[in-house]
Amino acid sequence: MKKRVFSGARPTGRQHIGNYIGAIQNYVALQDEYECIYCLVDIHALSTLEDTGKLQENICEMVLDWLAAGLDPEKSIIFVQSHVPEVMELHTFLSMITPLSWLLRVPTFKEKAKLQPHNVNYGLVGYPVLMTADILLYKAEVVPVGEDQLPHLELAREIVRRFNNQFGDTFPEPQARLTSFPMILGLDGREKMSKQLNNHIELALSDKETLARVMTAVTDPARRYRTDPGRPAICNIHKLDAYFNPLQRELFAAQCRRAEIGCVEHKQILAERINSELRPLRERRAVLATKPHYVNEVLADGAGRARVIARETIKEVKERMRLV
Ligand code: AMP
Ligand code: TRP
Repeated sequence: MKKRVFSGARPTGRQHIGNYIGAIQNYVALQDEYECIYCLVDIHALSTLEDTGKLQENICEMVLDWLAAGLDPEKSIIFVQSHVPEVMELHTFLSMITPLSWLLRVPTFKEKAKLQPHNVNYGLVGYPVLMTADILLYKAEVVPVGEDQLPHLELAREIVRRFNNQFGDTFPEPQARLTSFPMILGLDGREKMSKQLNNHIELALSDKETLARVMTAVTDPARRYRTDPGRPAICNIHKLDAYFNPLQRELFAAQCRRAEIGCVEHKQILAERINSELRPLRERRAVLATKPHYVNEVLADGAGRARVIARETIKEVKERMRLV
């Protein structure tokens, strides 16, 4: 039997190049070797969303990006978290064996509590327990994610060890799978690329919009004039070259140090590289967007297939925990 892969992402709408390079590329690459399950975690999204008005639209936009990037619903299960409610049952069971102290020291909890001090809700603390339930419900062994998710996976493994100790061997310990670019910086050059920080480049932009976005990127702040030499090591355009323009990266770095290439010219070239890399994806997306029913069919089929596995696990967990 093939091993299982599970990953989830919050339905924040259109995906950005951080999601793409940091996670989605692995989702696609793993499809042949593993039984893959990819989930739009709408319940997780509720922990940070106060206005849920756009949730359904965001789900649709995100599935379009995933499909256009190469996720194949014939090979992989693609579904929405709340459509398989068994995850909430498992979440509650796991919450009874997870010490609160473990959750309070999770870095993302501390960050989010700082970002939304007026809304430090119960779900925010339990976020990693729900994430663990996502993974365990499918007994997944491999979890493709970006670097920011590593503390969550460490916690998931601790919960697995505790469960298996207490109730007998039930779950494998899930392992994170990173891409070669597990943390893409945002256009500000300081924080990770994220929609919430508005420092991102969406996959589905037009060529012109991509260029406009890249032009806003912060480069070496000490390089004020075209004739000033730049420091590629602290310039995010150079970092993005590593993925989008690996062949010219060294050359541009050397030219930048000698002030032979300006930031504007360098940004124009990077935008062209991004556009040519994403062109096929954007073309597939435009075709898919003309078939809105298709997305709903994919999600309904995915939920049906996921639920079969989920029910089996819940049955086993209840037996292990002596609930039946
Ligand atoms: P999110 O959109 O935050 O729910 O993230 C979805 C997936 O993309 C997760 O596996 C993240 O770790 C990954 N990801 C998000 N932002 C980045 C980034 N800036 N660099 C690398 N991976 C990222
Ligand atoms: N926490 C992940 C994020 O913010 C999303 C997520 C939820 C997830 N459940 C998961 C990722 C299970 C991997 C596995 O991006």
